[in-house]
Amino acid sequence: MNLVLPIHVAAGGLALVLGAVALLVKAQKTSHNRRSVMKAFVVEKYGKSGLRAAQVPDPTIGPRDVLVRVSAASINPLDKMVRNGEFKLLLKYKTPFVLGHDGAGVVTRVGADVRDYKVGDEVYARPRDLRIGTFAEYIAIDHVDIALKPNSLTMEESAAVPLVALAAWQAVADLARVKPGQKVLVHAGAGGLGSTVIQLAKHLGAYVATTAHGNDEEKVRDLGANEVIDYTKADFAELLSGYDVVLDSLGGDNLAKSLTVLKPGGLAISVVGPPDAAFAEQVGRPLLKPVMVLMSRKVRAQARKLGVRYSFFFMRADGEQLKTLAALYDGGALRPVLDRTFPFDETLDALAFVEQGRAKGKIVVVMPLPRT
Ligand SMILES: NC(=O)c1ccc[n+]([C@@H]2O[C@H](COP(=O)([O-])OP(=O)(O)OC[C@H]3O[C@@H](n4cnc5c(N)ncnc54)[C@H](OP(=O)(O)O)[C@@H]3O)[C@@H](O)[C@H]2O)c1
Repeated sequence: MNLVLPIHVAAGGLALVLGAVALLVKAQKTSHNRRSVMKAFVVEKYGKSGLRAAQVPDPTIGPRDVLVRVSAASINPLDKMVRNGEFKLLLKYKTPFVLGHDGAGVVTRVGADVRDYKVGDEVYARPRDLRIGTFAEYIAIDHVDIALKPNSLTMEESAAVPLVALAAWQAVADLARVKPGQKVLVHAGAGGLGSTVIQLAKHLGAYVATTAHGNDEEKVRDLGANEVIDYTKADFAELLSGYDVVLDSLGGDNLAKSLTVLKPGGLAISVVGPPDAAFAEQVGRPLLKPVMVLMSRKVRAQARKLGVRYSFFFMRADGEQLKTLAALYDGGALRPVLDRTFPFDETLDALAFVEQGRAKGKIVVVMPLPRT
């Protein structure tokens, strides 16, 4: 067979190939240009009325990032606090910035250095501080902050869990190192965080008591609580003693009383403060250590007097831990607790609902299906 093509046939073929390449490049440019802005909820100025719907530029991705098309995002009390500027001394967000700490979605682009993820992967994440922004159509996230979403969960369910699941893991498994047979008190067991901490402490083999409204007793027992104290009728501090760990998400008097139910050497973890010196280190602001020491002086003194320990805790992003947690969701040790969903356009209403502090689990905002 003659493998040498006549020259005009070869030239014609080349022209065809070049034409196709030109078309492809044009199509790529067109599709890139088509999406240069996106819908997002942006903090324009700190304060209660500072969050607005806006059109913002699509995120750009760095070599370590993945671009995620957000399918669902969940609301956390932290969103309200960041919007109000309560963290502005520690977390230097520059307005305007997109809000939102939790999300799940589909990878649409990967940075040059990313090997573990590909376009089309379904992922979930709590992006690290200063790179938040899940209340948007797209977000660029450092690939070490994400994990494949749990197979058994929907996008809405997956978006509901990263922040609370990471917080539960880091507080109960990493910080408190809860062991089988230990006694753990979880405050506000019906809330987004409490409902996850109950399940995780139970999974680690602890005996779990929780405070919740009487109406939620069945629900928190179903999650694994051995003992439920109706906070509207009884004082937990008069009923409980000899606890190894307390997780407090209410603060103030509740924290002070929590110290008294611990056995000697027991640990009270507060997720709402007062912050301690370790927190200043964690957020990279060592100069604020003396302020934090001062802020937590009273509770630390009280803990010392009782022979117990106090630790403030603030969760951090961690994709590796999200992998471990995905396995726990898929294995049935953990399950998401959702209260309700809102359409993305109603994110302000969703946040207002969470602000009332009466959520029975997580509130999730759902994106419309992507345009084709
Ligand atoms: N530091 C961290 O890393 C971290 C991480 C996650 C969360 N947090 C903080 O933890 C707090 C809770 O977060 P969340 O996501 O769980 O909020 P959430 O979903 O809004 O839940 C709040 C829950 O608190 C319950 N509650 C209110 N007063 C109570 C009381 N006196 N005793 C027992 N339960 C009571 C509410 O139940 P009722 O409807 O019965 O009142 C509701 O179920 C927030 O302040 C948040 O910022 C901190």
